[in-house]
Amino acid sequence: MADVHLKRVRKSYGNVMALSEINIEIPTGTFFTLLGPSGCGKTTLLRAIAGFHTHDSGEIVVNGTDIGKLPAHRRNVGMVFQDYAIFPHVTVRENVAFGLKERKVPRAEITRRVDDILEKVQLAAYADRMPHALSGGQQQRVGLARALVVQPTLLLMDEPLSNLDAKLRVDLRRELRAVQQSMDMTTVYVTHDQEEALAMSDTVCVMYGGVIQQAAAPWEIYHSPANRFVAAFVGSNNFIPLVNGTIAGVPVPLAPGIPGNGAELALRPENLQIVTGTPPEGMVTLPATLDQVAFTGREVSVALHLENGQEVQAICAPDPALLGLPRGARTQLAFDPSRAQVFESGVTGRRLS
Ligand SMILES: Nc1ncnc2c1ncn2[C@@H]1O[C@H](COP(=O)(O)OP(=O)(O)OP(=O)(O)O)[C@@H](O)[C@H]1O
Ligand SMILES: [Mg+2]
Repeated sequence: MADVHLKRVRKSYGNVMALSEINIEIPTGTFFTLLGPSGCGKTTLLRAIAGFHTHDSGEIVVNGTDIGKLPAHRRNVGMVFQDYAIFPHVTVRENVAFGLKERKVPRAEITRRVDDILEKVQLAAYADRMPHALSGGQQQRVGLARALVVQPTLLLMDEPLSNLDAKLRVDLRRELRAVQQSMDMTTVYVTHDQEEALAMSDTVCVMYGGVIQQAAAPWEIYHSPANRFVAAFVGSNNFIPLVNGTIAGVPVPLAPGIPGNGAELALRPENLQIVTGTPPEGMVTLPATLDQVAFTGREVSVALHLENGQEVQAICAPDPALLGLPRGARTQLAFDPSRAQVFESGVTGRRLS
């Protein structure tokens, strides 16, 4: 059980600023996810917490004590890696028991704790198997059991599901979260999969270029992104530049103080409607041409372009009439302006609305 407080943590490699002034607070029992594109500093931050490398400055405070200078083996953190990192020549049980033997835990207690944790990760029936006779998902659960059996104060996971196929990833996502919640284990989890981050986390921390862009609950990250980067990285978004207060020549009602230029309107695909008749009251409509309609079962994904050539994606409820529209059909895109957000132009442009 641990609360974690990172204060002004910095780390650079030569002239690459991998972490710049990281400030994070993680209350006990929280599932905290670092989310961001390749190279944004996720692994660097996780390894700094684990003690696998030293940071240049700042504090890593766990339960009120700065552990930033302790060697890794004295930090009492459990770590699960992307590649399973389990010993190939010993059984599941021996893999899981390893850390307890190292700590000279009495044999009877080792047996009891290993049995308990194997039960928890649903591997009790596989205790005497060799790792090569396990699926990828089962191997990753061995990794999890091994990290948890030593009762770490903090669990760190670096893309533990990324080597698994899509279906298994979703199943294991749920299992991981269930185990974490049942143990009330403070967890720092790394992924570049935004859907995984939203589905599993109490808090999602979006990083880019070694800088935290936003740390908030999944709902807030999705619905109130702090800047253009978060709006673009989490979920899909259409960004349409404002030119003299219009988009593609159509005037948009903007809140007072929002500039008509140098900003972009962000429209989520699910907030766009394709209308053939009269558009509903209060909606802004944009003439558009249909490029492609794809039916994916639960929804219809529609690619269009506006008068100025800008490409736009819409997600609609399945509708045979929509599926019947030919490529090149002229149509109208409608959106509720109160659901549009405005961002300053630029990769990490601020939210203005
Ligand atoms: N040992 C190193 N020496 C020099 N530069 C490094 C080293 N490790 C990481 N970097 C650089 O630091 C930055 C952050 O790397 P990091 O591994 O933390 O990214 P990441 O977010 O985990 O990416 P990924 O999603 O690809 O795993 C990158 O620019 C990377 O090239
Ligand atoms: Mg990484």
